[in-house]
Amino acid sequence: MSTVAAHLTALVQQAAERAGFEGVTVDGCVPTKDASLGDYQSNTAFRLAKSKGMKPRDAAEALRANFPEDPAVTGVEVAGPGFLNLSVDDAWLAAAVRTVASPGVGAGKTVVIDYSSPNIAKRMHIGHLRSTIIGNALDRMHRWLGYRVIADNHVGDWGTPFGKLIVAWQEWRDEAAYAEDPVGELQRLYQLADEKMEADPSLLERARAETVKLQQRDPETLALWQRFVDASMAEFDVVYGRLGIRFDEVLGESAYQDRLDPLVAELLERGIAVESQGAIVVPLEEKGLTDHPLLIQKADGAKLYGTTDLATIEHRLATWAPTRVLYVVDTRQQLHFRCVFAAARKMGSSGDFVHVWFGMLKFPGGAVASSRKGVTANLLDVLDTAAERAYAVITEKSPELPEEERRAVAEVVGTATIKYFDLSQNPQSDITFDWDRALAHDGGSAVYLQYAYARLHSILRAGGAAEAPPDVLPAHTEGPEKALLRLVARLPEVVQSAAETCKPNLLAEYLETVARAVGPFYEHCPVLKDGVAPEVRAARLSLVSVVANTLEVGLGLLGIGVVPRL
Ligand code: ARG
Repeated sequence: MSTVAAHLTALVQQAAERAGFEGVTVDGCVPTKDASLGDYQSNTAFRLAKSKGMKPRDAAEALRANFPEDPAVTGVEVAGPGFLNLSVDDAWLAAAVRTVASPGVGAGKTVVIDYSSPNIAKRMHIGHLRSTIIGNALDRMHRWLGYRVIADNHVGDWGTPFGKLIVAWQEWRDEAAYAEDPVGELQRLYQLADEKMEADPSLLERARAETVKLQQRDPETLALWQRFVDASMAEFDVVYGRLGIRFDEVLGESAYQDRLDPLVAELLERGIAVESQGAIVVPLEEKGLTDHPLLIQKADGAKLYGTTDLATIEHRLATWAPTRVLYVVDTRQQLHFRCVFAAARKMGSSGDFVHVWFGMLKFPGGAVASSRKGVTANLLDVLDTAAERAYAVITEKSPELPEEERRAVAEVVGTATIKYFDLSQNPQSDITFDWDRALAHDGGSAVYLQYAYARLHSILRAGGAAEAPPDVLPAHTEGPEKALLRLVARLPEVVQSAAETCKPNLLAEYLETVARAVGPFYEHCPVLKDGVAPEVRAARLSLVSVVANTLEVGLGLLGIGVVPRL
């Protein structure tokens, strides 16, 4: 099973070889913008022509003349200065989309995705929410494409913050507050420690001593640390549960601490790291980084965030031999990762490391009626509010649904609303959350797509085809049916490019296009109306089923559920 684009590209490749362009790999075919020009186009003639010093149009003509016979292709035409336009056969396409299947391009490959990665003893903030949502969409898409995915939650569970926290705990803890809201209390203590330690250096000294005790695995200190870790993970797990997320590994920074001393020693010995004013750094020769050596040990012997990241890279490469490692972390860490990756390359690591950075998401003041204290908007409050708002929308639009069902649906729609708002935008843009847009009926929202799905499903139910739709798809059709058929056939290639470019918004945009294309279909292609011939009805029901499946699979890959009734 390959994508339609890949199938056509392989034909263009054959044509190029037959036409005497040896040893070249042609560019991939892409859908045409204008359906009247054909379904897919190849722009490869421009590059082929260059290699032989000929006119692009002549190269395109040569491709056309040598194009192999294939059941998928009904027309090959040269247009403009050298475009090759391909028309795809309806029946072939109808057979191809009958099952919404993965192209399996990731088979045999592994990708490690480092996402969410919040810090212990602090509330997960909006940046971590974005990482969690975007990372999970990449996780699901890669799995669907056949990759082995290692979803690794690299929690911040080690380092100087713990020394401070332990002193604050000894001095100022409020047991009752901790029992009620452990992370809130830990966060309060941490902030208090920061303030007090600025004024009182002796406290800071004590915090340092506690950090050292932790590093030396003093049993009492370690037990307290473990308590903080467990309390925080329990809260994170509530968020993950509501978002439907699970990790393959939760290897926090603490998992690598034993590797840090030997790593620094080894890097010094190999001449990769050098001493600099008592500290140890990895000088970086790569462009733009010569002024940014990676600090791996401070003068007092302490290791850093980046040191742990180098040890983590070693571990990941050795354990899983990934073809790619994705780090889904906000824009503020761009320089950090450039330095870490450059240092890793200097160490000889040949992995393909990608920092999937994203912009800031703001919740304008008052977006959430926060029931908990804390400086950052609490994610659970955001999810609660989303479910309540979704409930109001559903109650208004579908008052006939029983109360209990409306509640259940509102939870699905609520989390979907938050996820989709994030995933439907270019990850690298800064975005401001907007409830009206996030819950808009007429597009650009999860609820729009979920309504589109539910409507398709209601047609299937009414047509008696919800369980087993007839296995015939409209071939040789016109207009809206033809357009829908072509669109649904694109799902696999869209998922592939969204995963490869790490842009889930490409998939979101595509799903929206599919949902929009259903409108003209409803208008011009009645399914259940009296007088529709039985074979036309059966074929249209099949198409409805494939479109519904496409939305369900596509939304599922964004981590978004659908409901049959809305
Ligand atoms: N815990 C870090 C933070 O909240 C993110 C960790 C990202 N992953 C990594 N391998 N550095 O900023």
